[in-house]
Amino acid sequence: MKEKTELTALLDKPEFPRSRHYDHDWMLDNQMGPNAVWLAEWLSNSLDLKPGMRLLDLGCGRAISSIFLAREYNVAVWAADLWIGPDNNWQRVQAAGVAERVIPLRMEAHAIPFAAGFFDAVVSIDAYQYFGTDVLYLSYLSRFVRPGGQLAVVVPGLMQPISDDPPPHLLQPQANGSCFWENDCWSFLTAYEWLSRWRRCAAVCELSADTMPEGWRHWRDFERALELSGKGVFPSAAEALDRDRGAYIGLLRLRAQKAETQSENLYDPGLGAQVGID
Ligand SMILES: C[S@@+](CC[C@H](N)C(=O)[O-])C[C@H]1O[C@@H](n2cnc3c(N)ncnc32)[C@H](O)[C@@H]1O
Repeated sequence: MKEKTELTALLDKPEFPRSRHYDHDWMLDNQMGPNAVWLAEWLSNSLDLKPGMRLLDLGCGRAISSIFLAREYNVAVWAADLWIGPDNNWQRVQAAGVAERVIPLRMEAHAIPFAAGFFDAVVSIDAYQYFGTDVLYLSYLSRFVRPGGQLAVVVPGLMQPISDDPPPHLLQPQANGSCFWENDCWSFLTAYEWLSRWRRCAAVCELSADTMPEGWRHWRDFERALELSGKGVFPSAAEALDRDRGAYIGLLRLRAQKAETQSENLYDPGLGAQVGID
């Protein structure tokens, strides 16, 4: 009973009013990062979603963001992920009652098997940092969005730039033995750094980026809830987030509109044939 009350205090957030209607155990059981349902809600606030739109949820993990978007906005979502297979996600999609609107598939982000302009929007939650730091990637991804359509991502990122050395307090081991800063954290960028990459892509326009108010606190609370419930799969990062208090680490949201123009698709396997070297 005490644990339930503590969990509710950590997870029932007025900042995410739609997410409040989702079962806490379901969110904890299917987590792969800082609560995909909260992040999907925050991202969706910056989007213009209409019933019947076609969305790609890229790097959807256990598809809880896809289920949230389908339920809340009555959109059709292709829930695409590399590590989590479609069989696993399909069970969850059916149980959530959105089998008509969520289509799970295994997909690598550089091999998207859809027609150009197929999607009204592409969203990505806590995944874009794994493949999107390549300056060529946005141009490739935007190919699958119709002109005027939307691209929007939430990533963990930096609140201020860092030099060649990570902040010492993020390298310091936590009581559970793990350090927050691992080598892969070099894919964490500031909003400015993301925007300067996106600005160089002629296939998108109307760019914007912002940071989640108190993002570190929400992330820490979710980590605490995972600790408390014993449902954490990875070592908790709560202590490090608490130590940092949003000085360096937080959550970023980036948004763009697909322009009328599209540049070359450099990931197209047929490109060699087009230039006569296949
Ligand atoms: C930290 S998990 C987040 C999953 C989910 N969006 C969430 O927030 O719970 C990152 C996800 O990115 C996916 N991913 C990483 N690299 C990928 C790639 N190259 N193509 C497709 N998905 C990728 C992984 O399969 C993984 O599920």
